[in-house]
Amino acid sequence: MTADAQQKIPVTLATLRAMQQRGEKIACLTTYDASFTRVLEAAGVEMFIVGDSLGMVLMGYESTVPVTMDDMLHHAASVARAGRSAWRVVDLPSGSYETPGQALLNARRLMDEGGAHMVKLEGGTGKVAIVEHLVGHDIPVCGHIGLLPQSVEEYGGYRVQGRDEAGAAAILADAVALENAGAGMLVIECIPAVLAARVTGAVTMPVIGIGAGPDCDGQVLVLYDMLGMTAGHQPRFVKDFLQEGGSIHAAVAAYVAAVKDGSYPASEHNY
Ligand code: KIV
Repeated sequence: MTADAQQKIPVTLATLRAMQQRGEKIACLTTYDASFTRVLEAAGVEMFIVGDSLGMVLMGYESTVPVTMDDMLHHAASVARAGRSAWRVVDLPSGSYETPGQALLNARRLMDEGGAHMVKLEGGTGKVAIVEHLVGHDIPVCGHIGLLPQSVEEYGGYRVQGRDEAGAAAILADAVALENAGAGMLVIECIPAVLAARVTGAVTMPVIGIGAGPDCDGQVLVLYDMLGMTAGHQPRFVKDFLQEGGSIHAAVAAYVAAVKDGSYPASEHNY
């Protein structure tokens, strides 16, 4: 079978779990529109996150907090129209999962109208009841712990999480609680690499890292960050793949190759 034909086989959670079990790293990127979705799939990206980061990189907000369900549905549906093979995870935006009932209503909309295969929500032990409710109604859930961009106003900025023993223990407890609640996947953001390795070892679900070192089951970056398009200060884990790739297609292919062979993230990207 040609590589092109292989890419048309839809990626499922079982595919991603099989990759995790054989030690093959999962290459994930954010995407928000149809054109990039096609480019990313052609380059071999196996998983997309339609992230609420779209509020910052597309819409010009200072944080992800103002993003609405309508914003998420618009972009998720654009991605779903173009998507053929990759596993699509869509963010529940801030304020859309305050209660189990509200979370279920909005998660269903992301699946039915937005074409999501899985929804992602931020938070750990405090979100167990919501995760249980969604999973109990057949909605696949991806957790998101560590740095929680929807809570950035509470942290007073984007800061590395889990640096001290109490913070590390809380993040580990969050991961285990989410898995016990039925989450099928986990994103960990901006934590020390050593802690990320412990989290990845403590759960059986695939763990996707962003600013979380090399030992996660896969990596994700915000697409516009890895294309060097984001203005202002960049966190240390961001690498501009367009600079060396020379074209968008080559940059995405270089990212996929670097995730697969373990050369990204390198030591200079880790906390
Ligand atoms: O919104 C987003 O882009 C995210 C990333 C951490 C993947 O959640």
